[in-house]
Amino acid sequence: MLDSNSIPSSEVFTVTEILDQKSDVLVAGLTEEGSLSSTLDMIDQLTGGWVKRLVDEGEIRGKTGELTLLASPADTGPRMLLIVGLGSGELDRDSAFESGAMLVRRLGDRQREKVVVALGESFPPTSHDALVAGALAGCEQQAIYQSEPALRVPEQILFHGVSEESLQRGCVIGESINQTRRLVNEPPAVVFPESFAEKATSLFERSSVIVEVWDEQRLIAEGCRAILAVGAGSSKTPRLLILRYNGGGSEKPLALVGKGVTFDSGGLSLKPSAGMLDMKCDMAGAATVVGAMHGIAKLGLKRNVIGFCGLAENMVSGDSYKLGDVIETRSGKTIEIHNTDAEGRVVLADTLDVAIQHEPRAMVDLATLTGACMVALGTEIAGLMTNDQGVCDEIQAAARTEGEPVWQLPMFDLFDEKVKSKVADIKNVGEGRWGGAITAAKFLENFVGDVPWVHIDIAGPAFADGAKPSRDAGATGVMVRSLIRWVENSDVL
Ligand code: BES
Ligand code: MN
Ligand code: ZN
Repeated sequence: MLDSNSIPSSEVFTVTEILDQKSDVLVAGLTEEGSLSSTLDMIDQLTGGWVKRLVDEGEIRGKTGELTLLASPADTGPRMLLIVGLGSGELDRDSAFESGAMLVRRLGDRQREKVVVALGESFPPTSHDALVAGALAGCEQQAIYQSEPALRVPEQILFHGVSEESLQRGCVIGESINQTRRLVNEPPAVVFPESFAEKATSLFERSSVIVEVWDEQRLIAEGCRAILAVGAGSSKTPRLLILRYNGGGSEKPLALVGKGVTFDSGGLSLKPSAGMLDMKCDMAGAATVVGAMHGIAKLGLKRNVIGFCGLAENMVSGDSYKLGDVIETRSGKTIEIHNTDAEGRVVLADTLDVAIQHEPRAMVDLATLTGACMVALGTEIAGLMTNDQGVCDEIQAAARTEGEPVWQLPMFDLFDEKVKSKVADIKNVGEGRWGGAITAAKFLENFVGDVPWVHIDIAGPAFADGAKPSRDAGATGVMVRSLIRWVENSDVL
């Protein structure tokens, strides 16, 4: 079967000597204010004032994102020098992450053996792990099925001025993001509910995460009729994946819930081709849960966390669920189906219900849920909706620390009216298209009981149409960093 598992990633190490290494490229940073870092100063002295001259002449300006690759004129030291512009703003975790990712991608035009990254001195130690994570994330690409790699990753990346601890942490975070991205980038014939669950099972083999998979029989026995309804049109049967991590003794767990629609054709409310092309990304919420659980467990965080992934494929056949169907969800609440393309909230109805049975002290769900959220916030910002401002503030704080943009949308009671049904308790769309991100969240709110809950609509930022210097197009792994941070920092309730 089609498989892409042999995509290379760089090996990373810390290093204490900058010049001793027989490196292909030395990477150093330059801020806009123009004073040379100690590494650049050293190179400058080795080369008779070469670097200073280039800076004075305005050839290199240190603007954010400026990447200058130069061949060294000296016969000692590194053959090539990459100067990374660091701008004039705060050198926070996000700029460290971006710098790490950009430098790897800039060097990806040819195979390099050893790259020494002397950026530790430019960033505060609290950002060093983000630098390492960014460099690893920069290795991950969309072109997982091209015969010739589009981007060549260095065999080794050696970080100078970075502690072993930051390196390890950065590796875990970078790998976690890449796990999410790989799951999302795989085509829908490779990642479907059963294979998603298998891939997660093998990822967590020999780890502290306990994996439980509910197959079709178990879903029937558990009364997960909503998940089964969405998956009914597909020959690939649905699954529910439960990932348990116990790092917090007897405390109540945090719950992470993900929408895992492995392909969204829209069902009988069929999407036009253009809108269907990228719908392998509709399991990004579930993949984010897998990536975050991977990070949380590998970092050994002192928390109990349970991940829940509702996995189904939304397809068209004689068995598809239909408009006008009424589904009695696992919770007992009934839903009338007005649009089979609003399937994510239907899958989440049962998934959230399973999650709240574990009595989480707080719950976050992630879903590529609505095009309306993209209309509201664009393609780069995740929408937050909540029944508990305290937990929502925590998520916002975590996202701010990591530099992932999020924005809260309101949950006024007046929206409750819009999901009422004439036949059942609720219907799966609002009145018309206005406020579609919020009506979707209002629908979900019916299934969270009184658990403090934040819904994160990642329809915009989960999957990118175009590449940027720090990231390839395709899956982004958005919110993995922020979720790990939230779990680590949360001492809620
Ligand atoms: N998976 C889509 C939402 C989506 C759209 C994600 C574009 C990523 C990019 C979701 O299942 C969907 O189709 N939502 C509908 C809801 C509508 C029928 C109420 C939408 O947003 O149009
Ligand atoms: Mn849909
Ligand atoms: Zn969908």
